[in-house]
Amino acid sequence: MALKTRLSDALEIKMEIKNLELKIGELSAAGAKLGESIAARNEAVFRESSEVEAAEQKIKMLKGEMEPLKTDPEHRHRVQEGVKLENEVETKSRNVSELNKKIESLHKAGSTARTISWPVIKITERGEKMIYLTRKIPEPALQYLQERFACRFWEEENIPVPREVLRREVGEAEGLYCMLSDRIDREVIDAAPRLKVISTMAVGFDNIDVEYARQRGIIVTHTPGVLTEATADLAFALLMAAGRRLIEANRAIYRGEWKTWGPLFMAGRDIYGASLGIIGLGRIGQAMARRARGFAMKVYYFSRRRNMELEEKEGITYLPLEELLKSCDFVSLHVPAIPETTGMIGPKELAVMKPTAILINTARGTVVDENALYQALKSGTIYAAGLDVFAVEPVDPNHPLLQLPNVVALPHIGSASIETRYKMARLAAEDLLRVLNGEQPRFPVPGGLT
Ligand code: DGY
Repeated sequence: MALKTRLSDALEIKMEIKNLELKIGELSAAGAKLGESIAARNEAVFRESSEVEAAEQKIKMLKGEMEPLKTDPEHRHRVQEGVKLENEVETKSRNVSELNKKIESLHKAGSTARTISWPVIKITERGEKMIYLTRKIPEPALQYLQERFACRFWEEENIPVPREVLRREVGEAEGLYCMLSDRIDREVIDAAPRLKVISTMAVGFDNIDVEYARQRGIIVTHTPGVLTEATADLAFALLMAAGRRLIEANRAIYRGEWKTWGPLFMAGRDIYGASLGIIGLGRIGQAMARRARGFAMKVYYFSRRRNMELEEKEGITYLPLEELLKSCDFVSLHVPAIPETTGMIGPKELAVMKPTAILINTARGTVVDENALYQALKSGTIYAAGLDVFAVEPVDPNHPLLQLPNVVALPHIGSASIETRYKMARLAAEDLLRVLNGEQPRFPVPGGLT
């Protein structure tokens, strides 16, 4: 009996479990359904909210509060008013802080006058002044500009901005931050009716129509000084590489041409004690002379103007151009690209150089007649060349000069050390800011002020 009762109890419990399982099944099916409808609901809400967001953006654009509609004349007028007010506030702030300084100095004399408090007010939002950068520049300099202006820039670092993009982008810009590889000519300047400053991240500015910019009231600035040592380092590295055939020797290993030590295998020219002729005694030319001293080189120079003081100080000697070309083992070019220096080293100049001479060019490609140089190198009129610059850049890899074993070629990297490029980027940004703030730039190019 007892067994019977226990069996029926067990049966009941089993049935109860079954019922519960059924219920759980029903509930979880309902839960899944609910989950589905919640997800559908969420999606709808999400869709709706992005529609609302898009609508809000549209409203903002229509109100002229967003970038794309900044061309709208009414908005532009408001911006101009805002900028005017902001300038006024800035001037007043400056006056107040001058006054405060005076009051503070009076405190020392026992005065109890109270300093004036002037709230820092920013009336226009940051970025009302638009600047265009033709390249992605090192982050700290970019950030420096972005904190102060509405910056638009070509996002690539190693691809130049297409002309049509440049022309379009400068349309609204008050500042243009460019590279030496961007041609800033009349066409670009004419496309930039609001432009006040062109700041190039380079010392050379032959890519910019400075005279036309001046006529249009646009200031042009550059970055001299900070790249002097890096560029001289590279010029000297090229001198050594071309003199001692470093690249040729390096290639020989990979080509399996190093069979044994040979008395004249990859023998080049002496550097220590050789003579160096520097053409153009600007900052970089002088820095080159300093490096040559460490190698006991006899240094000569040719320049438009003699500099007796430097001759004395650096122990260098002036020579007329032809004399220098005739007598120097190494000739290094450090002149700017101006009409007077175009083709300065041509067939006539190369013909008087020593057959053992080596030409170094870290200035600009146009200074050398490249056809004449090719002939001179091929025929043995001169011994070798180290070239960081070319008449057309980037140089075509099939360029005849690049096919010669006695040419060391580099892709215009004179100033390319990270530290130097950061400094150049910052300097160009600072001068751009100065001009847009109505101050004098520190480094206008010659003839670049209005
Ligand atoms: C310059 O800045 O002009 C130099 O050519 C960089 O190497």
